[in-house]
Amino acid sequence: MDLGLKGKVALVAGASQGMGRAVALGFAREGAKVSICARGEAQLKEAAEMIRRETGGEALATVADMTKAEDIQRFVARTVEKFGRLDIVVTNAGGPPPGEFMKFTDEDWEKAFHLNFMSALRLAREAVPHMRKVGGGRVVNITSYSVKEPIAGLVLSNAIRSAVIGLAKTLSRELAKDNILVNNVCPGRIDTERARKLSQARAERLKRPVEEINREMAAEIPLGRYGTAEEMAGLIVFLASERASYITGTTIQIDGGLVRGIQ
Ligand SMILES: NC(=O)c1ccc[n+]([C@@H]2O[C@H](COP(=O)([O-])OP(=O)(O)OC[C@H]3O[C@@H](n4cnc5c(N)ncnc54)[C@H](OP(=O)(O)O)[C@@H]3O)[C@@H](O)[C@H]2O)c1
Repeated sequence: MDLGLKGKVALVAGASQGMGRAVALGFAREGAKVSICARGEAQLKEAAEMIRRETGGEALATVADMTKAEDIQRFVARTVEKFGRLDIVVTNAGGPPPGEFMKFTDEDWEKAFHLNFMSALRLAREAVPHMRKVGGGRVVNITSYSVKEPIAGLVLSNAIRSAVIGLAKTLSRELAKDNILVNNVCPGRIDTERARKLSQARAERLKRPVEEINREMAAEIPLGRYGTAEEMAGLIVFLASERASYITGTTIQIDGGLVRGIQ
């Protein structure tokens, strides 16, 4: 299947490792030019180098913090300066800290709001004028299965990521006339650096072997295993492609069947 991504420009935030990096590599494999960011410079440069090496394509790396408005503006502006257009934006950043409701202060809530909500809002707002210029575009937000089924002990994610869904649904309707399609993807348990760190922390807290924790977590998933970052990339690259030209306003979980609800 030709995904029609050759020559397109795809910006992927939070892409020095994990799902973001796999998504950027996925776009580059389809012939898109990619622009990636993260806060840590060394790992970001390594990721861009890996993408160039593996695909022979172009990859621009920008050190930027998605909690900062000026960094988001610079990231988008630099991408358009380098590649002359912008077709696809994948919003992504780190996750908010775990914890229950009474643990968090207003400051914690504001931090999570900037990390997971304002970052998605600002990236879309910066990108839309460029997408209009080329006759359309795609926004894909990486959120979490917490928007389908709130996760115990993750109140910040449960609440703030749900606001991203409301924003995206609104945008999908407002921007449809511009042929800009907006969708959300909700990872379940995906085997990334972050997921491994979380399992390790849990094992240490419970004073139990990490292998045992991983086995239990995987056993709760109907497919019996964690997903891979490459499986996430497959969905996102497809949603951003010409083959997904009638899909907008959706919120799709990719979770091996973990979410129990029917919507
Ligand atoms: N893995 C899972 O099972 C899972 C499940 C549900 C939801 N999620 C969510 O999906 C997202 C991606 O997860 P992942 O597992 O791929 O994470 P990851 O392996 O920790 O990768 C996160 C990437 O984002 C970058 N990043 C973090 N904060 C940033 C910021 N403020 N500005 C710019 N870049 C930033 C990181 O680089 P720097 O640290 O150098 O900036 C890194 O490149 C997270 O929001 C996570 O909460 C993950």
